[in-house]
Amino acid sequence: MQSWVIGNWKQNPATNRDAMTLVDALVSAANTGIDQQKCQLMVAPSCIHLATVSARLQGSSLLCAAQDISTHSPSVGAYTGDCSAEQMADAGASWTILGHSERRQYHRECNNILVQKMSNALSQNLGIVLCVGETQAQYDAKQTLAVLTEQLAVIQTLLQQAGQVADCAEILAKRLIVAYEPVWAIGTGKVPTVDEVSATHEYIKQTVASFATPLANVSVLYGGSVNTANADNFAASPMINGALVGGAALNADSFLAIAGAFARAKA
Ligand code: PGA
Repeated sequence: MQSWVIGNWKQNPATNRDAMTLVDALVSAANTGIDQQKCQLMVAPSCIHLATVSARLQGSSLLCAAQDISTHSPSVGAYTGDCSAEQMADAGASWTILGHSERRQYHRECNNILVQKMSNALSQNLGIVLCVGETQAQYDAKQTLAVLTEQLAVIQTLLQQAGQVADCAEILAKRLIVAYEPVWAIGTGKVPTVDEVSATHEYIKQTVASFATPLANVSVLYGGSVNTANADNFAASPMINGALVGGAALNADSFLAIAGAFARAKA
């Protein structure tokens, strides 16, 4: 199974010039180094850098993702500050991250909003990287699986709303990746054990498969303080189909080293 290593650049870097420096380093190294059949690379720049980054990625093996899309309309409208799925796709995104814990925390994204965003993404043929994960307090209270059940329910709601469940499931099977990111591991240097992540991923896979048979093979990535030192350990688990990388994705060498770990392990 092909693995995925996705760089979430968040609100970085500060300038277009720095974004170009990063993408140039990735393109020149990635085209010689990583076997795309084994590891698909993707970067999610900030909205303001999306068009220039994706133009630079043309003809390379790297894909480009948006970090978010508008809830209110998949296309155009009077929604000040928003960028729609259609605009992101036009700027060169083929995927979008949705439900990142920072969006849930700072923008109060709830399941209703996420179902609408997922529907908007699919209407514009964007793939979805759906982020789920528990907080430290929920982890300590052993509520991880309950939290994931509640967060993953958006997939079932989307299928139900689509009416044609079988057709929607076939589309989602090609356009959905789940990223398990414990909130307490994001940007903290703290990580769960590989065994913990593997067991959680098994639960996510079973839950998603229970919604519709075609979803049995959905890729589940781990995210939260992935770095060059721990990537090999995560990559060694057959339950971990790749990584969503934040801080370590802002340096081409470390991002590519993480991708190399997954490409080797999934060879
Ligand atoms: P991190 O971020 O790798 O810096 O922990 C991961 C993420 O938020 O996607």
